[in-house]
Amino acid sequence: MNIATTFLALGLLGAVSFAHAAPNCTIALEGSDQMQFNLKTVTVSASCASISIELVHTGKLPVAAMGHNVVISKTADMASIASAGMKAGAAAGYVLKGDPTIVATTEMIGGGAKTSTKFAGSKLVAGGDYTFFCSFPGHSALMKGTVIVTK
Ligand code: CO
Repeated sequence: MNIATTFLALGLLGAVSFAHAAPNCTIALEGSDQMQFNLKTVTVSASCASISIELVHTGKLPVAAMGHNVVISKTADMASIASAGMKAGAAAGYVLKGDPTIVATTEMIGGGAKTSTKFAGSKLVAGGDYTFFCSFPGHSALMKGTVIVTK
């Protein structure tokens, strides 16, 4: 096999593995007592029938002091969702129920807890500008990241 053939073979191999790559349908995040998520970017596919959000709070502080959730929205909607959530208050988990600009949200949890939820991939548009964040008052300044949506 000469060099050109080898490159051609590698190229075909790459194309095949890309075409057959399973879409990512899970967003797994950890939130800490240092008010941080463990990831700055997550990637999911809009073709997923169902996308799971799995959140683990790795800290020890109670939900009233260091609550974390995962809200997904268009980046442009993050500030208004966080503001409305703050007004909704602790009993509402700092999420305004029925807010149409929220794509998905988990419940608010404290240290040592975990939670998960599911939503349809069809609620996302491939290539759109989306953010994940925690809506606990003040947390979205640090606890946020990019949601990359593939086809
Ligand atoms: Co938080």
